[in-house]
Amino acid sequence: MTAPALHLDGVATRFGAEEMIFDLSVSPGEWLAVIGPSGAGKSTLLDLVAGFLAPDAGRILIDGIDRTQSAPAERRLSMVFQDNNLFPHLDVFQNVALGITSRRRLSDGDRDRVEASLAAVGLEGFGARRPAEMSGGERQRVALARAFLRERPLLLLDEPFAALGPALRRNMLALLASLKAARAPAPMTIVLVTHNPEDARRHADRVAFLDKGRIAAIGPAAMLDDPADPALRAYLGL
Ligand SMILES: Nc1ncnc2c1ncn2[C@@H]1O[C@H](COP(=O)(O)OP(=O)(O)O)[C@@H](O)[C@H]1O
Ligand SMILES: [Mg+2]
Repeated sequence: MTAPALHLDGVATRFGAEEMIFDLSVSPGEWLAVIGPSGAGKSTLLDLVAGFLAPDAGRILIDGIDRTQSAPAERRLSMVFQDNNLFPHLDVFQNVALGITSRRRLSDGDRDRVEASLAAVGLEGFGARRPAEMSGGERQRVALARAFLRERPLLLLDEPFAALGPALRRNMLALLASLKAARAPAPMTIVLVTHNPEDARRHADRVAFLDKGRIAAIGPAAMLDDPADPALRAYLGL
């Protein structure tokens, strides 16, 4: 049996009086959407997995390896945030190149890979631009290009397209889905925080509903049609 791509076993953290505790297992190649009200702990969950936040208790396994104590860079994952993914003083090419190396000099092969990854997100020829000279959607495509260039098996996204309009958001999700498919047969596991249940329905294999620092419900995306959990029903307005 292959190990889960991600496994959280009693991973706990506390902010003041609020305790959060997460148990979760995500299979290789699975797309998990994480939804829930503001303040439920969605970003905290991703920060714990990425290693930006150390848990008070519990274990985090990535590809079957205990990474609870590992530095973020040692975890085999990439993270895309809602904004501020890019370094403003670097151009787009340099920002994407950071996905493979922080060295100043790139090999010709490295340069080709950066160009190819920009082309894959429809940004051919944008390499010399600064982030400030691009739209929000273009900047998020740069962030996706860099994340994909890193070729990590686990991709965490924290409301990456929330600031974009509905049509652009749908396009970006379709792009994410096609990049994931292009990666096959190497399975790419996605954990996507979204506040849009439609996005979860369209693309996710499973949905986790977070409420008050717990996973209150988890199941196939179809669960959203008629959920049993009262808090999830209230969240969806059912
Ligand atoms: N660094 C922190 N210090 C204190 N409280 C925090 C910190 N980060 C998050 N919190 C609290 O944890 C709760 C969950 O936050 P967050 O994970 O950002 O929620 P979500 O992403 O679901 O909106 C919030 O009540 C927030 O105030
Ligand atoms: Mg958040």
